[in-house]
Amino acid sequence: MEGLTILLFCTSLLSILPLSTATDTITLSQSIRDGDTIVSAGGTFELGFFSPDNTTKRYLGIWYNKISTRTVVWVANRETPIIDSPGVLKVTNQGILQVLSHNESITWSTNSSRLVQNPIAKLLESGNLVVKDAKDDNPENFLWQSFDYPCDTHLPGMKIGKNMVTGMKRYLSSWKSADDPSRGDFTFELDPRGYPQIFVKKGLDERLRFGPWNGLGFNGALIKPHQLCKFSFVINRKEMYFTCEVAINNSIAVRAVINQNGVLENSQWNDPTQSWMTFRAGPTDNCDSYAFCGPHGYCKIGNSPECSCLKGFVPKFPRDWDTSDWSNGCVRKTSLDCPSGDGFMKYSGIRLPDTRNSWFNESMTLEECKRVCLNNCSCMAYANLYIIGKGSGCLLWFGDLIDIREYSEDRQEIYIRMASSDVGMNLSPKLRKLSECLTF
Ligand SMILES: *[C@@H]1O[C@H](CO)[C@@H](O)[C@H](O)[C@H]1NC(C)=O
Ligand SMILES: *[C@@H]1O[C@H](CO)[C@@H](O)[C@H](O)[C@H]1NC(C)=O
Ligand SMILES: *[C@@H]1O[C@H](CO)[C@@H](O)[C@H](O)[C@H]1NC(C)=O
Ligand SMILES: *[C@@H]1O[C@H](CO)[C@@H](O)[C@H](O)[C@H]1NC(C)=O
Ligand SMILES: *[C@@H]1O[C@H](CO)[C@@H](O)[C@H](O)[C@H]1NC(C)=O
Ligand SMILES: *[C@@H]1O[C@H](CO)[C@@H](O)[C@H](O)[C@H]1NC(C)=O
Repeated sequence: MEGLTILLFCTSLLSILPLSTATDTITLSQSIRDGDTIVSAGGTFELGFFSPDNTTKRYLGIWYNKISTRTVVWVANRETPIIDSPGVLKVTNQGILQVLSHNESITWSTNSSRLVQNPIAKLLESGNLVVKDAKDDNPENFLWQSFDYPCDTHLPGMKIGKNMVTGMKRYLSSWKSADDPSRGDFTFELDPRGYPQIFVKKGLDERLRFGPWNGLGFNGALIKPHQLCKFSFVINRKEMYFTCEVAINNSIAVRAVINQNGVLENSQWNDPTQSWMTFRAGPTDNCDSYAFCGPHGYCKIGNSPECSCLKGFVPKFPRDWDTSDWSNGCVRKTSLDCPSGDGFMKYSGIRLPDTRNSWFNESMTLEECKRVCLNNCSCMAYANLYIIGKGSGCLLWFGDLIDIREYSEDRQEIYIRMASSDVGMNLSPKLRKLSECLTF
């Protein structure tokens, strides 16, 4: 008899379970109270209320469901925690998500410019929380999505960049501290100027530069294609962004986090050790520090000092260099002789300079690129844009060449404008003529 009761109890529990706990959506009639959660269809992510360590403040967030150490990837009310009361998350018939505190005051809400018949909120397997019409799964028609408002974590499928039509920017921003998810000092963002690049910034100050993108990865930087993620960099009229499109192996959790010290950490979950394995992190050394050696300076770890000038350049203020202040960089020994005759000096194995003051064309050849640069006296350097195959496209730099470091892993070549007398510096006059013919 007892066995039967238990059996009955179990079957009735089973029939309720799928409805009460294993859902990935919130409908108009259901809301989530503090303590309830929803879980994405494949069980990868979970959404609910949580408190960071050492605090009782309540936040609505998303974390990995299957990972033993709670790892929060997104926080809704990061600036407006709920204090001393159980919160509620609901979706309104206007298609708006709201976090309410005990006295029904709105602590946080989304917005939407459209109405749909039956708005629901759904936690997708990618970790993206979306508001959409119940019947419409087309991402183009989502009313709102959390991937548009990243916190400190980049997940596969999330874009970092700018929508040129709406002006919306998507970027990472660090937590203030390990127990405070509110916006901290550091961001990881795309700068759309010139040929777009990705930066770690502290406020408006550049700290670390990733780029330029060379078709395969970021030149001279830490983020490169590797077997865990398929990276891409997209520039068109509508948007420009960098993304890890998909995790190559869906069963391995991968993420990038900008931490509260401004370090970008890429990591993957390691099941055997039950911990996150950080496989790339930056900045790593002085030469990663943006513009460490100033304009036309060249940074090389292992050199003492780490800063020197590009060939044909000398310290702008030698006295500063004597006191280890390299910020003013270097100036030309011989001024340019444009338009009557300049040449180019080829470098490889370096991280290419900042491209914010640059121009690019994806289809020009290197020959065309050189010609355009030579004919424009403010053009200071040129390079192929992409390194795939024999190289293609054209990148031109104007103004000072900033943030160059040794980067021997990279074979991308750059041609820096010099007075013709400097191009053949070490050659006899006869040979110099020949070398100019060769390099032009
Ligand atoms: C709700 O509570 C918060 C803090 O507990 C308070 O600041 C706010 O004024 C209250 N709102 C209403 C409508 O009572
Ligand atoms: C929508 O909300 C975001 C913040 O969540 C805000 O930055 C944006 O300006 C709002 N847009 C409109 C149209 O109100
Ligand atoms: C919580 O407090 C303990 C003791 O003060 C400290 O060791 C720990 O780092 C704190 N955790 C966080 C996330 O700040
Ligand atoms: C994906 O990763 C899991 C766990 O490390 C491994 O067992 C599996 O073989 C991998 N699958 C592929 C296709 O690499
Ligand atoms: C890029 O260069 C090609 C070849 O010179 C030219 O046809 C094309 O219009 C250029 N595109 C842009 C956007 O300037
Ligand atoms: C040189 O290039 C700059 C930047 O694209 C442009 O503003 C300027 O007009 C060009 N000068 C000449 C002479 O083509």
